Amino acid sequence: MARIEIEGGYPLTGTVAVSGAKNAVLPILMASLLTAEPCRLVGVPHLKDVTTTMELLGQMGVEISLGEGFDVGLQAAHLSTHTAPYDLVKTMRASILVLGPLLARAGEARVSLPGGCAIGARPVNLHLKGLSQMGAEITVEGGYIHAKASRLTGARVVMDGITVTGTENILMAATLAEGETVIENAAQEPEVVDLAECLIAMGAEISGHGSTRIVVKGKETLAGYDHTVIPDRIEAGTFLVGAAMTGGHIKVTNVRPDTLDAVIEKLREAGAHVVEGEDFIELDMAGKRPRAVNLATAPYPGFPTDMQAQFTALNAIAEGTAVVRETVFENRFMHILELQRLGADMQIEGNTVIIQGKSKLDAAPMMATDLRASACLVLAGLVAEGKTLIDRVYHIDRGYENIEEKLGQLGARIRRLPVS
Ligand code: UD1
Repeated sequence: MARIEIEGGYPLTGTVAVSGAKNAVLPILMASLLTAEPCRLVGVPHLKDVTTTMELLGQMGVEISLGEGFDVGLQAAHLSTHTAPYDLVKTMRASILVLGPLLARAGEARVSLPGGCAIGARPVNLHLKGLSQMGAEITVEGGYIHAKASRLTGARVVMDGITVTGTENILMAATLAEGETVIENAAQEPEVVDLAECLIAMGAEISGHGSTRIVVKGKETLAGYDHTVIPDRIEAGTFLVGAAMTGGHIKVTNVRPDTLDAVIEKLREAGAHVVEGEDFIELDMAGKRPRAVNLATAPYPGFPTDMQAQFTALNAIAEGTAVVRETVFENRFMHILELQRLGADMQIEGNTVIIQGKSKLDAAPMMATDLRASACLVLAGLVAEGKTLIDRVYHIDRGYENIEEKLGQLGARIRRLPVS
């Protein structure tokens, strides 16, 4: 299994370009199921989750072609199956995004239940409730969700909790339903908005995306799309935290600064000088140690749970004490145990971690446990004294494109060790 080795103590400096947003790419690739016409997505990052999605779509009969650079062509002229099998779904929870579009287009979908995952139970009850309110007959048997509806009908779907992929599933299904669907308490994440924009380009009638109330007027058919995905705000945020932790000075390009408001605010609170351009963010820490920052995760536009682990790493070496509260997922603190191995002073109390900043961390071998947790371990490795070795880096490859190349370009001493 591949490992990453980092020699700490080198500040991040220079310019790095952010890739397309994984969490926007996955639903938009799935949206190709909604039409028989050709689709083209531009800005697709080379990530394990993207490959898994393409494999899943390929198995359903979607013809996929890889274009120049970062383009992917897709055409779901004929669907060969309506089953999303366990062996693919188990490797990526976002596979559940196949459910809404497949059901809407084919009238039937059989999708393996995603099951547990390292950061908590992550149920899909709200996805199923919404679709059944739209007239789907849903049974769960033998580990599979089986949904049927000759044509879905519009409904008022009130989400009991805010769910990103849940909103996306209902949104995609509603575009081909008969009549009007209203999604109340919808997720407002920029990735939901990007999906909605793409669906609109396909001929869907959608309003209110980006707010908590999305209205969709269903159509008989949709056309193909030619869409450029939004930049990855979490990848951008991860590099910015890396620069803040190492006392560095970087410019992150191909970003949408407006999607990072909560993160930028916390970076400023930590003492960073941040300049926002139209499509770039420049952060200068001027060699200083960051100040501790308190935070609580929340759905967008609140502080993203996908940036919690990175800020926990920052607080480990910050000046002062920080309280970090995780309100979105129930068990998203596995990285704490690993950071403690570097000497970090952290205490977990329920959904809160209390961090006493240390002036230094010492390198030690660590193990990646999930995607964002592994990014936090890499950041900790950038500041720890000595050589840090991170095992199970396949987690990081699910969501960060060429992380060692990009950080290397910013002056980090980081390399991937060959599989032994
Ligand atoms: C998406 C993101 C993930 C991010 C998360 C929260 C993708 C592919 N992934 O995941 O990176 O960390 O949003 O911003 O976009 N819940 C239920 N019932 C449901 C669905 C969700 O109780 O049917 C709960 C979850 O357990 C969790 C909370 O709702 O506590 C939010 O989860 P959700 O927004 O659905 O996360 P994902 O869409 O899976």
